[in-house]
Amino acid sequence: MDGKILDNDISRVVEADRAHVWHHLIQHAAWTGEAPKGDPRIIVEGRGMRVWDQKGKEHLDAVSGGVWTVNVGYGRERIANAVRDQLIKLPYFAGSAGSIPGAQFSERLIAKMPGLTRVYYTNSGSEANEKAFKMVRQIAHKRHGGKKHKILYRERDYHGTTIACLSAGGQDERNAEYGPYTPGFVRVPHCLEYRAQWDLEGEDYGIAAANAIEEVILAEGPDTVGALCLEPVTAGGGVIVPPKGYWPRVQEICRKYDILLHIDEVVCGVGRTGTWFGYQHYGIEPDFVTMAKGVASGYAAIACCVTSERVFEMFRDESGDPMSYFRDISTFGGCTAGPAAALENLSIIEEEDLLGNTVAMGEYMLDQLRALQDKHAVIGEVRGKGLFLGAELVSDRTSKEPANEKQVQAVVADCMAQGVIIGATNRSIPGFNNTLCYSPALIATKDDINQIVSATDAALTRVFG
Ligand SMILES: Cc1ncc(COP(=O)(O)O)c(C=O)c1O
Repeated sequence: MDGKILDNDISRVVEADRAHVWHHLIQHAAWTGEAPKGDPRIIVEGRGMRVWDQKGKEHLDAVSGGVWTVNVGYGRERIANAVRDQLIKLPYFAGSAGSIPGAQFSERLIAKMPGLTRVYYTNSGSEANEKAFKMVRQIAHKRHGGKKHKILYRERDYHGTTIACLSAGGQDERNAEYGPYTPGFVRVPHCLEYRAQWDLEGEDYGIAAANAIEEVILAEGPDTVGALCLEPVTAGGGVIVPPKGYWPRVQEICRKYDILLHIDEVVCGVGRTGTWFGYQHYGIEPDFVTMAKGVASGYAAIACCVTSERVFEMFRDESGDPMSYFRDISTFGGCTAGPAAALENLSIIEEEDLLGNTVAMGEYMLDQLRALQDKHAVIGEVRGKGLFLGAELVSDRTSKEPANEKQVQAVVADCMAQGVIIGATNRSIPGFNNTLCYSPALIATKDDINQIVSATDAALTRVFG
């Protein structure tokens, strides 16, 4: 390649991509090497719920940009205009100073998060989680002689791609080969009742799953545990909505042992489950909330680590000590495009009542997927909240033996061939990469959902009969 790619010569784009781009979470063997099969996919354009690829083929995107991100849909000119105007005025200044959109967005965001007061800006979900981990560690040093430094995380949850986030990673296939990990991260059991670990049901099951966290705390020593980090609804680990009884007991346990509660809203945050934040379904009071993907719907990179004033206070109580503050740097946390985009994103969700739409369309989609479950024995369970849904595939409903992963992937590929992009848990839990994932934009209509469900129906028939 000579570096000169003409905008209108898409074949050159495809070849440049094949030769030089290292895609995330993709095996490149298929389209590179001596005898490539097919081309890398280039997504060229998007409008509303739909995207077009390099061949001009239209796809209905049921996964909001592949990873639960484009919550308000594609082609929002008002976000682009706000970003453009802000970039011309001031693109960047380090976070040691404030910015107009940064201050304005923090105020609008905090108004939606009673009990929390401070927003630390950063640029990816992983980095936001790292900030919370660092705060927990520093609090341990400042307040507890370094002892209360352990961070609990849950089997099947994911908190990001960096080594510390993988150390808090409950998905063994995501983690494999990237160790050794950071010490001081301790795993607690998952709470997926469909894959029950206790012979109980409903609320009793939820309480037992939370009590399992307490057992870990007691085994480790409560005076060594600083925080518990959980997804409100586990995403890539199988779309897991915690059972009734789970969250109140989790909150109780955290209070009992003075353990800070860190909720990772990187996927659920900003509308995905039908409330502004997933934790708000459960009436819990977190100390940290981290968020990224839907904050600006992918129109600009922005992530936030939001804390209570109690946490913030712990970092400003010794003003005479030059070490006594959060000594953290996030270069791109100072980009103004992020909060400028996030402000418009928030306004769109409010003005178009996208939370209301998410609740209504989420219920509709859940019903449609449950109807599909009546038709296809391979669907073992349908679960989710709002427009964040999963269908776990099994080869046998009684034994719950997970469906063959190649067949699960074949369902995804068949939908793609039909022009509908759905997802599936992928290289996550060994033997359990068997859940189809759906997270259409919060603007989805019944017609969109019907198209997604009927593509899945046809794909399941073709793959499983
Ligand atoms: C729950 C959760 N937390 C954190 C992350 C990491 O976010 P990022 O990829 O922006 O670093 C992800 C990414 O998928 C996620 O699903």
